[in-house]
Amino acid sequence: MTTKYEQAKAELVKNPKTWLVTGCAGFIGSNLLETLLGLDQYVVGLDNFATGYQHNLDEVKNTVGSGQWGRFTFIEGDIRHLDTCQKAVLDVDYVLHQAALGSVPRSLADPILTNDVNINGFLNMLVAARDAKVSGFVYAASSSTYGDHPGLPKVEDRIGKPLSPYAVTKYVNELYADVFSRSYDFNSVGLRYFNVFGKRQDPNGAYAAVIPKWIASMVRNEDVLINGDGETSRDFCFVDNAVQANILAAVAHGEGANQIYNVAVNARTSLNELHRYLVQALATHGVAVDKQPVYRDFRAGDVRHSQADISKATNLLGYQPLYDVLQGIEVAMPWYTQFLR
Ligand SMILES: NC(=O)c1ccc[n+]([C@@H]2O[C@H](COP(=O)([O-])OP(=O)(O)OC[C@H]3O[C@@H](n4cnc5c(N)ncnc54)[C@H](O)[C@@H]3O)[C@@H](O)[C@H]2O)c1
Repeated sequence: MTTKYEQAKAELVKNPKTWLVTGCAGFIGSNLLETLLGLDQYVVGLDNFATGYQHNLDEVKNTVGSGQWGRFTFIEGDIRHLDTCQKAVLDVDYVLHQAALGSVPRSLADPILTNDVNINGFLNMLVAARDAKVSGFVYAASSSTYGDHPGLPKVEDRIGKPLSPYAVTKYVNELYADVFSRSYDFNSVGLRYFNVFGKRQDPNGAYAAVIPKWIASMVRNEDVLINGDGETSRDFCFVDNAVQANILAAVAHGEGANQIYNVAVNARTSLNELHRYLVQALATHGVAVDKQPVYRDFRAGDVRHSQADISKATNLLGYQPLYDVLQGIEVAMPWYTQFLR
């Protein structure tokens, strides 16, 4: 039996659409771009290279080849400018809005900048997409919206208080999306990503995510730093699962449209387990890790445990994650060992 995802992709290949991917030079955005071009879609990309890279775009170009790359139009610009957003959504069917400043610690260090990009930029995109009457608007929400709610696994309609400025911005996105649905009949889908990982996730800098940062440290024989006792846990979501959720959400009709969904696997991996998995995976790719991890203080703003109930996305979108954390690490490992040396 073919899955909803296979059906959706086959339909898109038959009837190609025009997509806007904001944040296309970043990690998730460039993976969306690669998949969409691989499906012979037309893609407009918008990015200001705040945390994204030209080399991510170059990598996609090399992967898809010049024929499919010819269907891509890049706009270098900032979502904080309404006119840029208006230009980007022209003649677009579906918007996948990924551009934002990620990272809890970044938002604690500079809440004004995170607010400006993640809230004002988001509102610009909503207004532009509403006025352009796009068929689907999907945006990157975040599991950080669960904040201090203790329940596990996390269910979409039970959230707590945000624990960081970043979490506030992502929650405000959801509130604006809801108000636009009520006030302007403009529907959207919010995808609450839980710790997405995979190729092209930035390993460098103070705000790097745990998996690329640790692999880079291991490959470079540097210390791996674990915040807290290592029993903090996350529902690590391989990027191809997130890509699947975006495509299903964009083409969703009826009950599935205009919702907020968890996007992960419904599993929990502690940081200590993750460390072990990465050491084992690297060993099979010829990298021996001898150093023990170094434990340091818990990090401010971090939630202790996170795990997604994904039944809503499964039931309403037909979302079926194809990779668990170990499978995702295995698929991504050749990229990590090639690019993080
Ligand atoms: N990676 C995760 O685990 C995760 C988890 C929850 C939510 N998210 C959300 O998913 C989205 C994508 O995250 P990512 O991990 O790919 O991060 P990323 O930093 O790799 O990508 C974000 C992209 O947005 C661009 N951008 C930032 N500010 C911009 C602006 N003002 N105008 C235009 N472009 C701008 C950056 O240059 C970058 O290319 C973000 O909205 C993030 O908050 C990610």
